[in-house]
Amino acid sequence: MQWTPSQLAAAAAAVLLLSSSSSHSQLQVTALPTGNLIPNPFNGDALSWLDQSADQLSSGVVHGLNAAIHNSDGEPTPLSSIPYTPPPSANSNANANANANANSASNDKSYGIAYSPYNPDGTCKTSPQITHDITKLSSFRFVRIYGTDCNQTHLVLSAAQPLGGLQVFAGLFDLHDLDEQLQLIIDAVHANPAANNNPWQAIHTVAIGNELLNRAQATAAEVVAAVQSARETLRAAGYHGPVVTVDTVAAHLQNPELCRVSDYCAANCHAFFDETVPAEAAGDYVWGQVGVGAAAAPPPKRKKVLITESGWPHAGQTNGMAVPSLENQKAAVQSLRDAFALDPSAEDEEVRLVLFSSFDDLWKVDNGYTFGAEKFWGILGH
Ligand SMILES: *[C@@H]1O[C@H](CO)[C@@H](O)[C@H](O)[C@H]1NC(C)=O
Repeated sequence: MQWTPSQLAAAAAAVLLLSSSSSHSQLQVTALPTGNLIPNPFNGDALSWLDQSADQLSSGVVHGLNAAIHNSDGEPTPLSSIPYTPPPSANSNANANANANANSASNDKSYGIAYSPYNPDGTCKTSPQITHDITKLSSFRFVRIYGTDCNQTHLVLSAAQPLGGLQVFAGLFDLHDLDEQLQLIIDAVHANPAANNNPWQAIHTVAIGNELLNRAQATAAEVVAAVQSARETLRAAGYHGPVVTVDTVAAHLQNPELCRVSDYCAANCHAFFDETVPAEAAGDYVWGQVGVGAAAAPPPKRKKVLITESGWPHAGQTNGMAVPSLENQKAAVQSLRDAFALDPSAEDEEVRLVLFSSFDDLWKVDNGYTFGAEKFWGILGH
């Protein structure tokens, strides 16, 4: 089965702000709220994000911080930037310290982590290699994979199964041979006698597509139809968990139907691609993107948001204030952990962040928008 490394490339940063204005004709620029202004958009059992407000606003009153849209050639085109407003440092530090005590690296259960099973030359990793990798991720709540190629659903599920509840966020990254790909997932689940009478307990989510709109590889209508069809197939096979499509925040805001067709809203969001955001502000920035939507979209149509990718590269070229380095990766990942930490005593709290990524993806290829950093987002192993 084919896969294309560049198509799996990390997200362009996507940050669009919803305005509360109902005017469609004027572009409006809104300062980014900080975590302090929106104390906890995840309070309650659901989160307002993209609903009828997004519908109304998406046609014109949507703005980007380096948000990627596409020109007629399908290439991402940066939109105009507006400055990032850092949160008050005193509060930010206090929060960070408090969280650091309660949620050190030992509490990986607050997060998922992304994983791809390819060698640097793009060939598939073997079963023992995958088992070796996945064993290192056992402290997390779940591992996110992207495709059904390389027998990866089967191999990652098998590797995760003995690791005490490590779930798999399964996916397929393109819509070709949708039914065959779904069958691979279904077969993999049934081949792994994970949880007693419910083998699907090992699956956190099934994602149909990753950034297909951001990369202009499918239309919104195609993605919506694929999600609906996939959900039907998976339900018939006994899976009753979430079925979603993943795209950038920008793509979601421009296409609210992506969120609507998903069982929750699944968005990749990387502060690194915003030239105004330093590493230590990554957590507040990403949290703020969720909060902006939460504040702008009133009830009753509430939906949970999961950030399905966020991280920071440890090598590559500088993007304004966003500087890749080991030290900055550490700071960015800590700030993301702090912003998205769950209460360790509330074991049933739902994860809201997938850290990106577990290991360096040396098989990836840079393009004009990746700052030579595409291979170097791995958090572990160095
Ligand atoms: C996937 O891996 C499992 C376990 O090694 C194996 O039994 C199965 O035949 C493999 N499937 C394919 C399509 O290679």
